[in-house]
Amino acid sequence: MNIKQALQSSTENLESHNIPSATLDAEVLLLEVLNENKLNLKNTKENDEEILSPTLQNDNKKLNRSWLYTHDYYKLSAKEKELFNNFINQRIKNKPVAYIINRKEFFGYDFFVNENVLIPRPETELIVEEVLKIINNKKDLKNKFNLIDVGTGSGCIVISILNELQKNKKRKTLNQSVAIDISSKAIEVAKINATKYNIEKNIKFINEDLKKEINQKSFLDSNNFIITANLPYISNSNYKNLSSNVKDYEPELALVSGKDGLDDIKNLLSSISNIKLKLNQKIYLLLEADPHQIIDIKKRTKEYFKDAKIKIINDFSEKERIIIVEIKQ
Ligand SMILES: C[S@@+](CC[C@H](N)C(=O)[O-])C[C@H]1O[C@@H](n2cnc3c(N)ncnc32)[C@H](O)[C@@H]1O
Repeated sequence: MNIKQALQSSTENLESHNIPSATLDAEVLLLEVLNENKLNLKNTKENDEEILSPTLQNDNKKLNRSWLYTHDYYKLSAKEKELFNNFINQRIKNKPVAYIINRKEFFGYDFFVNENVLIPRPETELIVEEVLKIINNKKDLKNKFNLIDVGTGSGCIVISILNELQKNKKRKTLNQSVAIDISSKAIEVAKINATKYNIEKNIKFINEDLKKEINQKSFLDSNNFIITANLPYISNSNYKNLSSNVKDYEPELALVSGKDGLDDIKNLLSSISNIKLKLNQKIYLLLEADPHQIIDIKKRTKEYFKDAKIKIINDFSEKERIIIVEIKQ
């Protein structure tokens, strides 16, 4: 079976099981198989080296989707065929591609993911983008600040921020980074990702409920804080209506937050409001929420922090998605 036949039959198979984006999924899964076995491929005599050599000469370079179509006559080895079929069978059962290949790209970085963490979503990248803007624009943050990522999951937010600061030679603006999650298994995944990017020593991982962890003690050692929080925000009733690829695979703990979906966000606002800030202390809080919850959250935020500046950021479909709150004494 060559690439063309493999893509054709698997796409038909996925479509017959009503899997959306069947073609794309088949391509991504096949690429994963081929990239995994790239070194073996290179040495396989039965394949024409000329077919593979232009891309495979550089072992760090991954094959991409266009490669599949320029090399669609490449014959899959028995091992590749077996692995590809295995992937397709998992996808037929609605398992998200990211969990099958244990990877998801976020802010241009590759994150290890498994069923203990939420698959990072593109809209969450806005939090990273806004944090970087704050760091670049706010004079008071030119000095050291602390970063606290609440509900870190795969660690995608805090790790992307640290990676970007490193890239732009701005790591010195950072005092300490903390990643909190109530799930010990999520913390394990976040640590794997931090190690992958060689920044595990720069992040303090805390496996704790935010209600216990966000307290006066954590706000003693710095003037400026950035708190990022993509907490669960789906209501109990909406959870029941989620599609099976989300409900059957992604952790409920990462998705659901009480009757109105706001339990965790309310707990975070309330915990922060109990902190007695010093005169020169400032907190930038960045929250992700469902567009329908924004008015409610804004109202509650005003109740807790009456002088806070609030800014809303729209997502890619122009829906209100991120709330930025600037909190002073
Ligand atoms: C929506 S996921 C977000 C994960 C990651 N930040 C992201 O953006 O992909 C929410 C995360 O919050 C964690 N979480 C839920 N309730 C929590 C709580 N009370 N305290 C701390 N973390 C909590 C979950 O375990 C989950 O990893």
